Amino acid sequence: MSPIDALLQIMTLEEKLGQLNMATGDHAVTGPGLADDLTEGVRAGRIGSILNLWGAEKIAALQKIAVKESRLGIPLLVGFDVLHGQRTIFPIPLGEAAAFDSSLWERTARAAAVEAAQDGIALTFAPMLDIARDPRWGRIAESAGEDPYVASRFAEAKVQGFQAASLADAGSVAATAKHFCAYGAAFAGLDYGPVDMSERLLHEVYLPPFAAAIGAGCAAIMPSYNELCGVPMTIHAPLLQGFLRERHGFDGVIVSDYRAIPELLEHGVAADLAEAAALALVAGVDIDMVGKAYLESLPVALARGLVTIEAIDAAVRRVLRLKDRLGLFEDPGRRGSVRTEAVAEVEARKALAREAARRSIVLLTNDNVIPLASDLRRIALVGPLADAPAEMRGPWYAAGDPAGPIGIREGLAAALPGCEIACARGVGISDGDTSGIAAALEACAGADLVVLALGEAAAMSGEAACRADPGLPGRQEDLARAVLDLGKPVVALISSGRPLTIPLIVERASAVVATWFLGAEAGHAIAEVLTGRFAPVGRLPVTWPRHVGQVPIFYAARPSGRPADSDNQYSSKYLDMPTEPQFWFGHGLSYTRFTLSSPRAGATVIRPGESIPVMVDVTNAGPRAGEETVFLFARDVVASVARPVRELVGFSRIALSPGETGTVTFSLDAASLCCLGPDLEPRLEPGDFVLFVGQSADPARLLAIPLRAIAG
Ligand code: NOJ
Repeated sequence: MSPIDALLQIMTLEEKLGQLNMATGDHAVTGPGLADDLTEGVRAGRIGSILNLWGAEKIAALQKIAVKESRLGIPLLVGFDVLHGQRTIFPIPLGEAAAFDSSLWERTARAAAVEAAQDGIALTFAPMLDIARDPRWGRIAESAGEDPYVASRFAEAKVQGFQAASLADAGSVAATAKHFCAYGAAFAGLDYGPVDMSERLLHEVYLPPFAAAIGAGCAAIMPSYNELCGVPMTIHAPLLQGFLRERHGFDGVIVSDYRAIPELLEHGVAADLAEAAALALVAGVDIDMVGKAYLESLPVALARGLVTIEAIDAAVRRVLRLKDRLGLFEDPGRRGSVRTEAVAEVEARKALAREAARRSIVLLTNDNVIPLASDLRRIALVGPLADAPAEMRGPWYAAGDPAGPIGIREGLAAALPGCEIACARGVGISDGDTSGIAAALEACAGADLVVLALGEAAAMSGEAACRADPGLPGRQEDLARAVLDLGKPVVALISSGRPLTIPLIVERASAVVATWFLGAEAGHAIAEVLTGRFAPVGRLPVTWPRHVGQVPIFYAARPSGRPADSDNQYSSKYLDMPTEPQFWFGHGLSYTRFTLSSPRAGATVIRPGESIPVMVDVTNAGPRAGEETVFLFARDVVASVARPVRELVGFSRIALSPGETGTVTFSLDAASLCCLGPDLEPRLEPGDFVLFVGQSADPARLLAIPLRAIAG
């Protein structure tokens, strides 16, 4: 008998339910509800895991109680939301996705895991893998954007980074793929709202990143708050059992979202807590986060015959197995005990935060005003984000110190010692007070150029931070208009957790830069890009709308029988604005100019199981060194079901000196050309395909390569 089965044999029902019960500490507030009396609960074996607690000493003390003072001495599992760094804060995931760099995604997760583990944490509730196509939804900030291929690569990189070679390592934390699933497709972008979508869309777009996370060995999965076609994900047996466990062989732990089990009563699918607990357990949820439904109501459910002790045992076994895989039985203090503040390590993490931040920045427009001329004498730095270092952390800043990040002002001042920087806030981020605009205009007088630092507060994106109007909040547009009316060159920096609808700024500013929330090194990274010490490489992982009326908006739409045609009234278009977005998925400028030529494939036909090389030459036709990201899209021209006009099947980067030409090579698997048949099983349908290579999803700039699929 395995040690875990032996343990199960001597556990009381209460001790078993304790292992399924996750309580909350009070080091972070991530939902309603009060922190529990952890000490007593742990001692009594009623708490098997804890969230929202960090710090090696604190956790070691509780771990000691669990191991030495509880009857069975089972160690605790401590989890925390480490979305983009624990102490060293990296760019928000949406920003980091813009780097299109799997190695970077993995390295930042690794660094975050090391810091989290040093803080005693063994489980993180990340990565967030929800496809996000609606910028009203605040949690778009936590996502890798709109595309399932990108989110799948992001999933793999993050899981590998968090978990490293072995979960048992002192510097590893178990990853939780969340939120399973379709959470980002809530009606009208409203957090926690219901979702209704076709099975096809679910399987083509929303599920693949979770399959990728499982493939990478992800240890845990969190069902989402939303209901899907009437069934809350917390009790969605066909997806939790059927898709995750049976189809993809997921044998890790399923942890509910915060109080999601008692909230089943609000959903109207359970009459009382016992029913709610039973439905969740039977669907496959192992851990009840903060709901206390398992602890208090599974005994009732058991007595009513709604659950079996075997189902409870199976959940307990999975939880104990995760603790075992994490090395907690062997050495419960392994994580907190290796804390080191070695200068070299801290500096290396800072350098990584800078690298991630600079690579996340997306240059949206540029009328040759940046990089800044080296002889600038005076700059005005104006706007509510100009000197707001704490905001640079963005949402979900874990244990990041609010005083830690470098703000824009500090970064620019350090990079431009010979230049006078006149700084003025002008307006607040979201209030209605315009009385500071006059002072801001005064700061601009005598300046050679204005840097306008606009955007959102960190708390305006993330969980429960939806915006019906994702434009510039407060009176920032008034400030922008007044500054733009001065007629000086204006570089607009947009700090945000989502694409903001800013047509005025795009139209009138000399340059617009998406700076997201870049984390600890934000100001330095922004200064590196503005001064040209680093040429921007970021590309949009999400389509940037002109107006909220265009959302949801994404590049991989299915074709209409009446595509937009300005000469045809009866075509798919708006009367009051273009159908095209402000910026396409993949858009992002550099300080040089790249051209693509000679697109070609290594074969004219492809069979199931094969993979062929696809190449394109890239020339740096501009004056400076730079890096280009090249995207490979595919379209199935005629299929049994209409296919999207373009689907991403690869991305790659190349660094080139001025005048240099290089070749980007993709390896295209036949599997990535598959579409789901009527049974939702993937199949390669024989016939014509077109591959497209390009610098973004902009159809006007794609180069086509014909390809034919033939039966095997
Ligand atoms: C609720 C959020 O939806 C989830 O992402 C998070 O992991 C939990 N709270 C715990 O903080």
